[in-house]
Amino acid sequence: MIRKCLFPAAGYGTRFLPATKAVPKEMLPVLNKPLLQYGVEEALAANISNMAIVTGRGKRSIEDHFDNAFELETQLKNTPKEHYLKEITDVINNATFTYVRQKQMLGLGDAILSGEPLIGNESFAVILADDLCINEDTNVLSQMLKLYDKYQCSIVAVEEIPINESYKYGVINGKLIKNSNDQYLVNEMVEKPKPENSPGNLGIIGRYILTPDIFQILKQMQVNNKGELQITDALMQQAKIGKVIAYKFKGQRFDCGDIKGYVQATNYFAKSKGII
Ligand code: G1P
Repeated sequence: MIRKCLFPAAGYGTRFLPATKAVPKEMLPVLNKPLLQYGVEEALAANISNMAIVTGRGKRSIEDHFDNAFELETQLKNTPKEHYLKEITDVINNATFTYVRQKQMLGLGDAILSGEPLIGNESFAVILADDLCINEDTNVLSQMLKLYDKYQCSIVAVEEIPINESYKYGVINGKLIKNSNDQYLVNEMVEKPKPENSPGNLGIIGRYILTPDIFQILKQMQVNNKGELQITDALMQQAKIGKVIAYKFKGQRFDCGDIKGYVQATNYFAKSKGII
């Protein structure tokens, strides 16, 4: 059973400067809700209540967001504005939050390894909050948890990407599993390949289930030529030793780490709530 969800949230958000100079990118709102809260709500809806957040310098507003705000609550209590606090209060009441700081920015693999003290020796989920995922019924993480029950190994969510954008993703190649049309046994995985070197057109999005041996693999890895530890490389090692499943999820993903994707997500939610 998966009890914990890790949220790497230490990045600089360079593509969103100047907005992200003093505000963590995970706190940028789509409509009135910060990206990270969408991720936490996805985990809660998948019956995971233990949120492990990897932060860094300048990210204190994340902790404040997922904490009671006594003064604000007192001010709004028994007024017509009280309902504005309901959504975040529900999250706070239903989840627990633990935090650790990543000491140096050494890539996603290092951010995940920094979370080991919060996770321990158990399989866990990972959500990259800037990938905002939606689906009409079962959310993407819940879909993946069902597969974890079946395969008991690490699982990555993938989607078809234009091959000329392979340099933005971890790209996989795999063998379609018998009697399925959306599950692949991974045999190759490359982090941000050039289109001519890409092993295929299935790009990893920010949803993972990881088995805890990933920590040992990450500890033994060397940083790559960009000075980063890549989770994609660690997963490739798991695929070699055992197995890793890539899952073409049902739903839609908005790349909110990018201004275009962020605008698309905003439009989507504005339309679905009848605002525009
Ligand atoms: C990270 C991963 C990459 C993955 C992507 C999904 O990259 O390293 O493999 O495809 O997230 O959003 P980033 O976008 O953080 O550079």
